[in-house]
Amino acid sequence: MAKARVAILISGGGTNMAALLYASKADTCPYEIVLVASNDPDAAGLKLAKAEGIATFSKAHKGMERAEHDMIMDMAIRTHRTDYVALAGYMRILTPEFVARWEGRMLNIHPSLLPKYKGLDTHQRALDAGDSHGGASVHLVTAELDDGPVLGQTAVAIIAGDISESLSARVKLAEYQLYPRVLADYVSRYNNADWLLQKVEGLALALPETHARASHGSAGFRVGSEKSGKFFAYFSVQHHGSDAIGVLVKTGSIDELETLCEQQPEIYWKPAFYGASGWIGVRLNRPGVDWDHVHEWLERSWRSVAPKSVTKLMDVAEEF
Ligand code: GRF
Repeated sequence: MAKARVAILISGGGTNMAALLYASKADTCPYEIVLVASNDPDAAGLKLAKAEGIATFSKAHKGMERAEHDMIMDMAIRTHRTDYVALAGYMRILTPEFVARWEGRMLNIHPSLLPKYKGLDTHQRALDAGDSHGGASVHLVTAELDDGPVLGQTAVAIIAGDISESLSARVKLAEYQLYPRVLADYVSRYNNADWLLQKVEGLALALPETHARASHGSAGFRVGSEKSGKFFAYFSVQHHGSDAIGVLVKTGSIDELETLCEQQPEIYWKPAFYGASGWIGVRLNRPGVDWDHVHEWLERSWRSVAPKSVTKLMDVAEEF
């Protein structure tokens, strides 16, 4: 299985970066670090990354427009064919454009139990409030600071006599465990057949006059009536020795099928039995699936078997 390619953005010591990096050394880790980038050319973490043989990039932000700096970072990230961005002590507010480009694919670690204590001085604020616990959260990055959906948290008990520094040191130990685990789970949700089926189901059943119908033990999707409907998609989980989890949809011809499988073997495969009648497998258990693309395939396949009366309605709707 290809590993998800992760770029880490840091501004300072980069100890979380180190935790992510060393966790990635395990053969079973589903991600690899392809780049460590910083807005501070002197960031200590860059030296460590370099010494560990990881590509690095830095661009000081001083005197630059925020948008311009973000764009330069974004270009560096893209050059490394990055699937995910992990912010680890990256002390920059990101432009909405940058955030939008990485929507759903950018994570951050924040040293508090979100939604408590967004922003700075989190440990002192937890102590001042008399909280029993501090902690750390990993969340998806959205346009609002420290506000995206929380993917995982670890609570860290506050001990009598704690000061900000002592609490921070223990929270960091928790961070080093939490971030690699949450990142690994998040990037490998694509190997989770239930999660994938749910996504396919959502797209397939949103098409007009469709219903689900199991076929040879797999989920399938049909268009038309319950009685005389036709299949336009099958969900396939590692059938006949293939390691692919994906959706089978109808191509226009065997030629098209063969060409796609040859040109993009990481996306397409020719399924046993079904392949002979023009069904192609679109692999979903891989990082960076383009769900709009999956949607297009489902719609095309749906169109190829749907009754004219139904596709006509769709054409009319699309004209408006
Ligand atoms: C961590 O406390 C993290 O929660 C916050 O910034 C700090 C980064 O520390 N976002 P380091 O550079 O990983 O040592």
